[in-house]
Order: sequence, then C-alpha cells, then structure tokens
Amino acid sequence: MHVVILGSAAGGGVPQWNCRCSICSLAWAGDARVKPRTQSSIAVSPDGERWLLLNASPDIRQQIQANPQMHPREGLRHSPIHAVLLTNGDVDHVAGLLTLREGQPFTLYATPGILGSVTDNRVFDVMAADVVKRQTIALNETFEPVPGLQVTLFSVPGKVPLWLEDSSMQIGAETETTVGTMIEAGGKRLAYIPGCARVTDDLKARVSGVDALLFDGTVLEDDDMIRAGVGTKTGWRMGHIQMNGETGSVASFADVEIGRRVFVHINNTNPVLVEGSPERAGVEQRGWTVAHDGLTLDL
Ligand code: MLT
Ligand code: MN
Ligand code: ZN
Repeated sequence: MHVVILGSAAGGGVPQWNCRCSICSLAWAGDARVKPRTQSSIAVSPDGERWLLLNASPDIRQQIQANPQMHPREGLRHSPIHAVLLTNGDVDHVAGLLTLREGQPFTLYATPGILGSVTDNRVFDVMAADVVKRQTIALNETFEPVPGLQVTLFSVPGKVPLWLEDSSMQIGAETETTVGTMIEAGGKRLAYIPGCARVTDDLKARVSGVDALLFDGTVLEDDDMIRAGVGTKTGWRMGHIQMNGETGSVASFADVEIGRRVFVHINNTNPVLVEGSPERAGVEQRGWTVAHDGLTLDL
C-alpha cells in the first residue's frame, strides 16, 4: 500500500494567512525550523496507479502539483484520483471538492450525515451529478473505492463541522459526522483518523495491530491556542484530543501495538512543528513522527 501525505496541517495551514503566532512568524520568515504545510489530506493506492483521496483540502491544486503521483498522465483529460472519501464536513476537508470540477469522473464517498451536509449546499453541484457519483457508506461496512483497497468507516468521538455548530451540538459524541478510516491492501492495514476528541477502549482495540496509524495532531496541550494568544478555544472544544497528558493520544496509544505512529492535521499553534524544539523531541522519543507535506509511507 502506498500512502502520500499531501497536507499535514490542520485548518489554516502553516503559516495561516492571517496569523503571526510565534510558529507562523517563523514560517513567514522562511526559518528552516518550521516547514510550511498545507491543509489536511492524504492519498492511498494499492498499486501506485489508482488513488483514493482522503479529504479534499482547500490546497488541493497545490498538493496535486507538488506530488507527481497525482498528475494527469494519459490522454487529454485524466486523473489518477479515482475516488474521494470525506472523514468529516469541515471546510479544510471539503472545500477542495470545488477544485475537482471540470468533468472528471470519480466517486465521492462519505457517511449519509457527512455527504448530506455537503451536497445540501448547491455550490457543490459544480461536480456535475452525472459525472461525479455520490455514494453513501454506512459505518462498519467494508467497501472497495479503488480495486484492491478495502475501506471501513467507524465513528470516533468528535462533533459536527464548525459551520454547522448550534446549541444542540455535543462535543465528543460518537456519531457519523466524524469518522475514522481503516484501509487494507495486500495484507497491510492503515488507520487514518485526522479528527478525534478522545481515545476510547474501542478505538484502541480497533487500531491494535495496524501497520500505520495517522492520527489527529491538532494540539500538543489542550490550551495551545490560548497559550499562543490567538484564541479562546481549547482542543476539546474543537473536537481534538491533546498529544500530551495522561489522557492524551501519546499516552493512550502507548500500550497498543502499532507499526508506525504519525501525527497529521497539525495546527499552526502546535509547538511540535518547530524542529529541534523540546516539544518535537518529546513526541519523537515516544515513537511518534510529526508528518510533513510529501511524506510517503510504503506499507
Ligand atoms: C477542525 O478541524 O477543528 C476544523 O477544521 C476547524 C475549521 O473548520 O476551521
Ligand atoms: Mn480540521
Ligand atoms: Zn499561527
């Protein structure tokens, strides 16, 4: 199985267009310690030819350009992207669908809850319905979006997209609006979970034995954004678990058998983004890789 991390940052990217936090400031200055990063998306293929795109980031055009595996390569019109799967309806995961117009056939997969919220908005009709098939997928049902790639969606603690929040929303609810993805090919297994509010025993059992786990790396501490002085929201309020601490992701997965542990969806306020920092060393010493754009895994 071939995996390309197209975008390793959370919503906003690194640097974020309007941000001068200490980390974005390093990135704006071109400091080699902070690599610029685009927004959250990966691509997976069983053969290196046909690819499943997981989440369609607002930066997708740049991501396709930067990764030759994603370039059109035959005839007049072509794309190696055969299917697109959404793990939630957040803007950083769906806005790129608007770039995938121009009459290129593919199938768009998501749970009914996620797909409905997106396609209810008629701007997404730019992906003409007779060209781009919409396919709802139930939780815990295995499907094959690309021949040779078995995919199963499962719910993880999360919340509705930011733009759908209202007084009834529940943070940490396990519904079909935030899902994890188990991907299997050639006897290898990859778990992709870019958004998750809490690590439950169910989740630990689910990912036990995977060859690689790509997991929510939004915040190091729950109050990263408050410490950075750029906002009042905690990680939990945004539906994202912290890396550090007793109930954080690093400690929670410590006793689970996992081949490679990789943080994705990293917010620009997360100190692990700074190469050479004690925070980066802290998660690396505990077996985690902080993803950068263009990182590939061959499983
Ligand atoms: C998130 O992951 O919390 C969202 O992408 C936030 C957003 O839409 O900006
Ligand atoms: Mn996000
Ligand atoms: Zn910033």
